[in-house]
Amino acid sequence: MNILVLGSGGREHTFAYKIAQSDLCDSLFVAPGNAGTASIATNVPIAVTDFSAIKELVIEKNIKMVVVGPEDPLVKGISDFFKSDSELNDIVVIGPSKEGAQLEGSKEYAKEFLFRHDIPTAAYQSFTAETVEEGKKFLETLSSPYVLKADGLAAGKGVLILQDIEEAKSELENMLTNKKFGAASEKVVIEEFLDGIELSVFVLTDGKNYVTLPTAKDYKRIGEGDTGLNTGGMGAISPVPFANASFMSKIEEQIVKPTVNGLAKENIDYKGFIFIGLIKVGDDPKVIEYNVRMGDPETEAVLPRIQTDLVQLFKHVGEQSLNEAHLEIDERSATTVMTVSGGYPEAYEKGKEISGIDTISDSIVFHAGTKIEEGKVVTNGGRVIAVTSFDNDFRIALQKSYANIEKLHFDKMYFRKDLGFDL
Ligand code: AMP
Ligand code: GLY
Repeated sequence: MNILVLGSGGREHTFAYKIAQSDLCDSLFVAPGNAGTASIATNVPIAVTDFSAIKELVIEKNIKMVVVGPEDPLVKGISDFFKSDSELNDIVVIGPSKEGAQLEGSKEYAKEFLFRHDIPTAAYQSFTAETVEEGKKFLETLSSPYVLKADGLAAGKGVLILQDIEEAKSELENMLTNKKFGAASEKVVIEEFLDGIELSVFVLTDGKNYVTLPTAKDYKRIGEGDTGLNTGGMGAISPVPFANASFMSKIEEQIVKPTVNGLAKENIDYKGFIFIGLIKVGDDPKVIEYNVRMGDPETEAVLPRIQTDLVQLFKHVGEQSLNEAHLEIDERSATTVMTVSGGYPEAYEKGKEISGIDTISDSIVFHAGTKIEEGKVVTNGGRVIAVTSFDNDFRIALQKSYANIEKLHFDKMYFRKDLGFDL
C-alpha cells in the first residue's frame, strides 16, 4: 500500500519512521516533510491545507492511506473532503471529521461535549464581546489564578493564566473587544483553575473501538524549571511515572470510554487520534483539553515504544476493527529532548548548518525544522532536532539523549537540560 503523511515536524518524521518499518507499506510520501523524512520517504512540496493538490497527488501515486499530522487540515475538513469525493472515498484517512475536530478547534465545543458526557473537567462559562461585562462579574466569583481561553485555534498561545483580577478583566476585554487573538478570541472560555501535575493520554479510535497508547508528559516552557514563554514543546517523557495502574483505570473509565462512546452516540465520525490533556488533582484525573491529533514532541517518545505494526493499526481504524488489534508496548521509558534555534519561541534565524547527526548512536534522531540546502542539512524552524532514547529508568534514557546532543551542533542551538525535574 502507498501511504502519505501530511506535515513537516518531528511528529511526522516519527510517523514516517514507524510506517517505513512496516511490510504493509510500499511507497511512502510526506508532504511537505523535512530533511529527516527525505531520507526515508519521498517529500512532496504541497501544503497540508492544499486539498486539491493533495487529491492530485493521491490519485497520481495511487495512495491508499493518508495520515494527518497537524490539526489545521482536520479543522478545515480534510477527512470530509476525502469522504465526499467519489475518487477518494475508499482511502483511509487517519484523522477525524470536521465535526470531530471541533474538540480541538473550539474550546467551548469541547467543554460542552465534556459536560454532556459527565467527563471530569474544570467548571467554566463562555463569553462574547456582547457579554464582556458578565464575564468580568463571573471572574469576581472565582479565586485567583484566573484561566482565560480563546475559543478558537491560536497556535498554542490562546490560554492566559493570570494572578490578578484586574489584569484578568483587562485581558478578557483585550481578547473579546480588541480581538487579541483575532477571530480565535471572539469567544472566550473562563475556567476554574485546576491545581496539579499534568500528563497526556493518547487514544487511537475507529469511532467505535479504541486502543490506549502510552502516556507522556511534555515540557512546554522554554526555560528550565518550567519558566519563560510557552513553546510547541521542548521534550517529552513516556510513560509518566506517576500514572500507575489505578490512576490509569480511572482515566479509562471516567474519561476515555465516555469520550469514545460520546462521539459514537452523537454520530460524530471519528477515525484517528485523541490526545487528552489531563491534570491530576489529588488522585483524580480532569480533562484540560482535547487535541484531535498526536502531540509534538510527545509522538517522538510515544510511537517508538509501540511495537505493533502501526500501518496494521491504521488499517484496523479504517475497517472499524480495532477491537481485533493487539497492542504491544516496549516497557522501557522513552525520553525526547528537543533542540531549538536560539531566540525561539520568539524571532530566530534559519539556514544554519547542522553537524554531528551521523555521529549519534544509541538514540534516534527525529528531524523537526530542517531542510536540505545544497546537499547540507540546515535549520528551517524553531524546533530543529529531537533526540529520543530508551532505558528502563527514564533518568538514564535522558542521560543518553543529553550525551548525544553534545555531538550535535548548529549556531545558537539551545535545549533544556532539566527534563524530568518534576518527576
Ligand atoms: P490548553 O491549551 O487548554 O491545554 O491550555 C494550555 C495550558 O494551560 C495547559 O497545558 C495547562 O498548563 C494550563 N491550563 C489550561 N487550563 C487550565 C486549568 N483549568 N487549570 C490550570 N491550568 C490550566
Ligand atoms: N506538545 C503539545 C502539543 O502537541 O500540542
